Amino acid sequence: MERMVILKEKLEQLRQQVLEQLNDMTDEKELNELRVRVMGKKGWLTEILRGMGGLPAEERPKAGQLVNRVRQELENKFDEVESNISELLKNARLKDESLDITLPGKKHELGGLHPLNGVLEELIDIFGSMGFDVVEGPEVETDYYNFEALNVPKDHPARDDQDTFYIAENLLLRTQTSSAQIRTMETQKPPIRMICPGRVYRADEVDATHSPVFHQMEGLVIDKGITMCDLKGVLEQFAKEIYGPETKVRFRPSFFPFTEPSVEVDVSCGVCGGKGCRVCKGAGWIEILGAGMVHPNVLSGCGIDPEIYSGFAFGVGLDRLTTTRHKISDIRLLFENDRCFLEQFNR
Ligand code: DAH
Repeated sequence: MERMVILKEKLEQLRQQVLEQLNDMTDEKELNELRVRVMGKKGWLTEILRGMGGLPAEERPKAGQLVNRVRQELENKFDEVESNISELLKNARLKDESLDITLPGKKHELGGLHPLNGVLEELIDIFGSMGFDVVEGPEVETDYYNFEALNVPKDHPARDDQDTFYIAENLLLRTQTSSAQIRTMETQKPPIRMICPGRVYRADEVDATHSPVFHQMEGLVIDKGITMCDLKGVLEQFAKEIYGPETKVRFRPSFFPFTEPSVEVDVSCGVCGGKGCRVCKGAGWIEILGAGMVHPNVLSGCGIDPEIYSGFAFGVGLDRLTTTRHKISDIRLLFENDRCFLEQFNR
């Protein structure tokens, strides 16, 4: 009986002590530590329970009940305090992170395509609808692809017009996208229909119509029975889609080492309708591209038999196309990234 009393007292003492501590508990970590100290495997309650070993067998159930009641009470209290603390924490967090929805929001401005890319996308649509694939070529090119394979040997005067930036003796920044013709013919069998847009480089002084970096788009068609009629049809269609159906297209004989015959293509000036103005420099015509029937030397150099296949190629200056299309007076505007200028083209 004596022991039973002691047990009761001990339990009551522990109960009081723990409840007291729990009353002003506000910290989650401290709470967990206390829980372990009281309820844990080596905790105070377990210790008391162990002390019951000395009790006579008939008193043990009663003592067990006592211990369990206190354990249950304390457990409930621990849970209660725990949920109070987490409620407090949640409220504090909500207060901290409160959002003032009356503040004006941040405005995300919508960007737009650069006029060059806008024109390029139109070109891709136009040629895509005629079955052309879009290919890419490297901007750092070998002498072979940029000149040699295009029928421009080392001593050819055509190289003079395309003075450029050399990286090594036979490695340079490409002066024309025409190099993509060779790369395509080397890797694809006819029929071929491709366009290759991209940056090209020449050691030119900057002025209203020149830039050392500019853009071209190459086109190439190779198949059996391709003639100058196909060249004219495709290029006329393209010019009318870009400049409008009333546009007149003119083919002038010209020379390029990699085509025979070669032509230059002009369109009637959209500003004056052909009468002559500042944009067309009084000519009434604007030159937009060079083209021609692919030279047999170029075909055979790429392993394509010129007796069986023929084709045409063309090279468009994209910057020129963009400035004339949008009546932009100076090519430098395309490279300056002036937002006032660029915003006019947001479509
Ligand atoms: N590559 C020429 C240039 O930069 C343009 C050109 C002319 C490309 C005739 C062609 C072509 O494919 O057939 O001046």
